[in-house]
Amino acid sequence: MPSIDKAIDNGELKQRQPEQELVCVTGAGGFIGSWVVKELLLRGYRVRGTARDPADRKNAHLLALEGAEERLALCCADVLDYDGLRAAFRGCRGVFHVASPVSNDPDLVPVAVEGTRNVIRAAADAGVQRVVFTSSYGAVHMDPNRCPDAVLDETCWSDYEYCKKTGNLYCCAKMMAEITATEEAAKRGLELAVVVPSMTMGPMLQQSLNFSSSHVARYLTGAKPTYPNAVAAYTDVRDVARAHVLVYEHPDACGRYLCIGAVLHRAHFLQLLGDLFPQYHITAKCEEDGKPMAKPYKFSNQRLRDLGLEFTPLKESLYETVACLQKKGHLPLPVVPIAQKRAYL
Ligand SMILES: NC(=O)c1ccc[n+]([C@@H]2O[C@H](COP(=O)([O-])OP(=O)(O)OC[C@H]3O[C@@H](n4cnc5c(N)ncnc54)[C@H](OP(=O)(O)O)[C@@H]3O)[C@@H](O)[C@H]2O)c1
Repeated sequence: MPSIDKAIDNGELKQRQPEQELVCVTGAGGFIGSWVVKELLLRGYRVRGTARDPADRKNAHLLALEGAEERLALCCADVLDYDGLRAAFRGCRGVFHVASPVSNDPDLVPVAVEGTRNVIRAAADAGVQRVVFTSSYGAVHMDPNRCPDAVLDETCWSDYEYCKKTGNLYCCAKMMAEITATEEAAKRGLELAVVVPSMTMGPMLQQSLNFSSSHVARYLTGAKPTYPNAVAAYTDVRDVARAHVLVYEHPDACGRYLCIGAVLHRAHFLQLLGDLFPQYHITAKCEEDGKPMAKPYKFSNQRLRDLGLEFTPLKESLYETVACLQKKGHLPLPVVPIAQKRAYL
């Protein structure tokens, strides 16, 4: 049964019925986009998903989602094509702008930024009421001058010049895109909520490897002989998708929502992976042996928890990431020793 949300407006109790509502998700076939589409379909929405080539086999998994046959339509739109976006948003109350290049390629920075400007303008021109923008913690945490004891929260921004100097152009792109979304939406009177996911784990619905899933795969295939002396923040893709729908549905939700489930040093991340999957050889060599270990920082995910989001434990998320990578053929299945095999006979 689709959920029915109740909202009080001018003293009257109104019922919002997602099954009557059409929404659009840009970048529907990607890792996060696919889960956002799945969550929206499960909640009863009619969904239009954009992809640059909807007929490409890489998007076929979307058509197999529960509810897709009746309530999902895919359409073609590049974020650089205003007219395509405007057509995709026609009749939609809401837009989830998930699409973005996930890359440090300098040529792709303008795609992320101008693409976002096009999305907001096309949404406003098409009469859309509410937009959810997918930012990244790359726009939040990359500040070498942040006090080590400070809590990372929605007020934090990465240092643009530092990101540029260190070649983290993806972070520059996400910062600029988020600022563009916020400014353009304010100019056009569009409601905007921003979900800020950290490194996103969990099972993939799509077949091809996205960047954050390959982050895990590389350690299990032996492609990474060392690990950095670094701390990172992690979250589960299903929590990210729920966060998108929660901030969309909550009438008062606006501004940024940090979607972080855990922060840990890469050594601990790999230890967790190794404990779950001892069959794989995972490197134990740090790139900076002998130096003091980088310290995990404190963070707040209170804004999303206040909306009712419960975060998936990282251990569960990692287990399902690896099981999915194995199932989709991105990881070799570990060889079971002969003696153990016999025990099954
Ligand atoms: N995964 C993470 O760890 C993570 C963390 C924080 C934030 N995010 C953000 O989450 C969003 C989705 O990332 P993801 O991890 O799901 O990556 P992904 O699987 O690589 O998906 C990226 C999506 O963007 C679309 N896209 C790229 N360039 C486009 C263009 N010029 N026009 C239209 N669509 C374009 C792709 O569509 P096509 O199918 O047409 O190629 C694809 O659907 C991005 O905004 C990313 O910055 C991701």
